[in-house]
Amino acid sequence: MPFVKQFDAEIIENRPVTESWRELVLSWDGLAETPAPGQFLTLRVSPYSDPLLRRPFAFSGFVGRAAGEAPRASVIYQIRGGATRLLSELAPGARLDAIGPLGRGFPQPGAEETPILAGGGIGLGPLLFLASALAEIGEAPLLVLGLRSLSLLPRIELPEGAVLCTDDGSSGFRGTPVDWISRERPESRPSGGGAAVRIYGCGPAPMLAALSGLAGDRGWAASLSAEQWMACGVGACMGCALPRSGGGFLRACADGPVFDAGEIDWKACL
Ligand SMILES: Cc1cc2nc3c(=O)[nH]c(=O)nc-3n(C[C@H](O)[C@H](O)[C@H](O)COP(=O)(O)OP(=O)(O)OC[C@H]3O[C@@H](n4cnc5c(N)ncnc54)[C@H](O)[C@@H]3O)c2cc1C
Ligand code: FES
Repeated sequence: MPFVKQFDAEIIENRPVTESWRELVLSWDGLAETPAPGQFLTLRVSPYSDPLLRRPFAFSGFVGRAAGEAPRASVIYQIRGGATRLLSELAPGARLDAIGPLGRGFPQPGAEETPILAGGGIGLGPLLFLASALAEIGEAPLLVLGLRSLSLLPRIELPEGAVLCTDDGSSGFRGTPVDWISRERPESRPSGGGAAVRIYGCGPAPMLAALSGLAGDRGWAASLSAEQWMACGVGACMGCALPRSGGGFLRACADGPVFDAGEIDWKACL
């Protein structure tokens, strides 16, 4: 069992950003580690036995301990079932039992790699954190966000130059982020290496499979964050197993959730 850091977090904010999405801001007094983009925490949303299991959420931002202030971390979540419904009803001041940061986050881009961040729906959260971390080291990452419709656009500031794709064409590019990237970035990695794209992806399984296929065709690197159902969240139960390319399984919680595209058989996840 890996080292686990449990902490008592206070809800600072829990605001609606769409009809069914919320932005949760947490703070704590203890010594929880600094999260990296792509890592996640698990929350126990109720002191009672239902829901029993902790729920995993990716960090969408983190502000470290400033002079005299406690650290703050944010999460953007979608109300899907019982636990997220309960979470959405908690007011500032309520406290949550949290464990994190957990898992393997996104790697930095190589010296000659241009980062393109492709997010589908609620997959936006960890990419916002990544975009701000990359901006801090002088990168100007391009975020391409896919939504079903403009009405689902969250009231959240997106990085400058972000591209919006909608399935129904109600705003921005009509199509998916994969369609947009395929059309706008036709270049392949030059034979013998050199400048290329690194895709960072987070979103539904079909989008990850398509990003993996596109990166493979173009010879690009791709780091994809898998959203897998989890039980323990810390590597002990194999409840989050993903099919490994070439056979066997990898655990989304402990070996990921971010994987190099080639590590996972994404088509088998569909
Ligand atoms: C590493 C990781 C990071 C995540 N980050 C976020 C995030 O930033 N924001 C966010 O909104 N959600 C995120 N999720 C998903 C989130 O954990 C689930 O939405 C949540 O656990 C649902 O709990 P519930 O009780 O509300 O819904 P449930 O009643 O448990 O489920 C409701 C519906 O959602 C489906 N579902 C539940 N969990 C998942 C899952 N992991 N993947 C796909 N479908 C699922 C169920 O099959 C069911 O149809 C993440 C999951 C993982 C594994
Ligand atoms: S959820 Fe238990 S091993 Fe990943």
